[in-house]
Amino acid sequence: MIAVITGASSGIGEATARRLAREPGDVGLVLVARREERLRALADELGAAANVRASIVATDVTDEAAPARIAAHVEQEHGRVDLLVNNAGAAWRASFATGGWENVRRHMALNFDAQVRVTEALLPLLRASAPSAIVNVASTAGRVGRGGTGAYSAAKFAFAGWTDSLHLEEARHGVHVGLVLPGFVATEGFPQKELVGNRKTRWLVSTPEKVADAILDAGPGGRAERYVPRAYWLGAVARIVLPGLTRRVLSGGKLTPATKPGDQSP
Ligand SMILES: NC(=O)c1ccc[n+]([C@@H]2O[C@H](COP(=O)([O-])OP(=O)(O)OC[C@H]3O[C@@H](n4cnc5c(N)ncnc54)[C@H](OP(=O)(O)O)[C@@H]3O)[C@@H](O)[C@H]2O)c1
Repeated sequence: MIAVITGASSGIGEATARRLAREPGDVGLVLVARREERLRALADELGAAANVRASIVATDVTDEAAPARIAAHVEQEHGRVDLLVNNAGAAWRASFATGGWENVRRHMALNFDAQVRVTEALLPLLRASAPSAIVNVASTAGRVGRGGTGAYSAAKFAFAGWTDSLHLEEARHGVHVGLVLPGFVATEGFPQKELVGNRKTRWLVSTPEKVADAILDAGPGGRAERYVPRAYWLGAVARIVLPGLTRRVLSGGKLTPATKPGDQSP
């Protein structure tokens, strides 16, 4: 299996690279992120196994030339690709009043535009290598918006919606498109300190390894969608079926005039 993983220098991407390296048979890994030393150390470690060939593309995925660079590297190193994991991402917490459009633009550039452009660059090779798969790592924030993370949610909602369409479009070309929606996962970029530090909420926080398993389910395993933990799909359902209650819970129990019972219109 030949896999390209963006955001492979830490957290979920790194765990996915480690998980894929344990797959039987020959494994080719293309690790993408900005921190070159981290990528090189991981590629050296995983490439020490006889069946694993790991290489890196150190790049900012939002750079204009990044998608073409990644595609050229994959073509040259392997000539095919079985799995693309669009995972690179980050969040900069701010209300809209403080972060403004600039914060929305920044989130869209990394968490949406870059993923779409990398996919566009690799799609011809994915189709030529079919059966193959794309896994898009969105977030439960791509189904339910919370205060202070509107820009992140906007990008992840866009990413999840686009993934749903791509799933339908690419099936006939033999490219399976899967969506992974993690909840809270303790990683470098998302340390979840408050939740982890509180005994009552620690259980809410998942691990990058569990998300890596879900990525395999949603890619080569053929699942269309995986929440991590699985029970988080209830949050997405509640947002549609019980919008008033969902807003009340997310606002800490305070009802604002806009969330009065009866105001359940979409
Ligand atoms: N952890 C959570 O609670 C959680 C929940 C839901 C969804 N997610 C999603 O899961 C994905 C992975 O996040 P994580 O939790 O594993 O966080 P992380 O440990 O901070 O990993 C983020 C990865 O993305 C890479 N990255 C960030 N900006 C980049 C850029 N401009 N160009 C190239 N690579 C870039 C980082 O590498 P470099 O810094 O080396 O570039 C790193 O490898 C993200 O899409 C995130 O939105 C996370």
